[in-house]
Amino acid sequence: MSSPARFVNAASVDDLWEGDLLDVEVDGEQVLLAHLDGGEIKAYQGMCPHQEVLLADGEWDPDTNVLVCPGHRWEFDLATGKGLNPTGCQLYEFDVRVVSDEIRVGIPTDGQRHHNRFQT
Ligand code: FES
Repeated sequence: MSSPARFVNAASVDDLWEGDLLDVEVDGEQVLLAHLDGGEIKAYQGMCPHQEVLLADGEWDPDTNVLVCPGHRWEFDLATGKGLNPTGCQLYEFDVRVVSDEIRVGIPTDGQRHHNRFQT
């Protein structure tokens, strides 16, 4: 079970068209928003699990959901947050609610840092 979260307005749906990425700061957390083909909106940690590089600056193909980090070209599936290359890493995923035209991100109230790291 995930820990309790506080849902915070992160962006307007108008700022994130289908197939777009957006880098936002929510309650001090760097968050990557992705609007998947088909309409689902995902929220993941904004920084790469490898080093402090913004994932939103990467190349994303909404047809395959593959995001390539601009740092060292690690690849992630933005439908699941799973690392594809290298495998074994996983982006931290936040809950998302869309209320009218607001995208709200669930920030857990556990006092932890919500950013998975991974070293090869
Ligand atoms: S910082 Fe993302 S792959 Fe190295």
